[in-house]
Amino acid sequence: MSDIKRISSFVNSYIKDDEGLLGEIYYKAVSDGVPVIRKEARELLKTQLLIKKPKNILEIGTAVGYSSLFMSQFISNESRITTIELDEQRVIEAGNNIKLLGKEEVIKVIKGDALEIISGLPDASYDFLFVDAAKGQYINYYENLVRIAEPGAIIVSDNILQDGEILESHYTVEKRNRTIHDRMREYLYKITHDERVESAILSVADGMAVTIKK
Ligand SMILES: C[S@@+](CC[C@H](N)C(=O)[O-])C[C@H]1O[C@@H](n2cnc3c(N)ncnc32)[C@H](O)[C@@H]1O
Repeated sequence: MSDIKRISSFVNSYIKDDEGLLGEIYYKAVSDGVPVIRKEARELLKTQLLIKKPKNILEIGTAVGYSSLFMSQFISNESRITTIELDEQRVIEAGNNIKLLGKEEVIKVIKGDALEIISGLPDASYDFLFVDAAKGQYINYYENLVRIAEPGAIIVSDNILQDGEILESHYTVEKRNRTIHDRMREYLYKITHDERVESAILSVADGMAVTIKK
């Protein structure tokens, strides 16, 4: 086992399982092959929510609602989560899971293409954004993310290291993955060089970036 895998497995051994229905939703999603947030990543997300205490959260990439439901445990009663998902079946399953946990008032799922939807959202309307959809799209989302984020908002981007493939050069990456690879590198450059934001790239789970709009 590589050192990175050993470290990850050590860290994971300290992470508590979700209790009750949320735990069942998580394990069902994993066994159905739904790409839910990794355990180490959700721990970072939890800490950011507890520090920031956001009122309006936007998630891009609902899947079956697990991460929204997870986040909903760490926000105030007045806070709301809007989450976007393209896949119809997943939207239905997310709706069922949200209902099962009685969180219909807290979490609203919007069905559709994230880029189209965020293009229509008002300026400075979210104080916490969690980006967890198609990795090749992050760079296309970027201008809208900065626009719809309030000053001081936190933007957390997941899976930015692409299981280490991001380290490879363009030509050593499999041809079919090159566009995603190049776009993610562009995104990482943007969030670390754009003067409107400050970012930290972290090697947590599959890589996470925490970006603050100034
Ligand atoms: C990694 S999964 C999200 C996992 C979820 N955040 C969780 O941890 O429980 C990414 C999701 O983004 C959705 N997605 C992909 N492209 C999208 C797009 N253009 N617009 C909206 N959702 C999209 C996929 O269908 C998939 O369900």
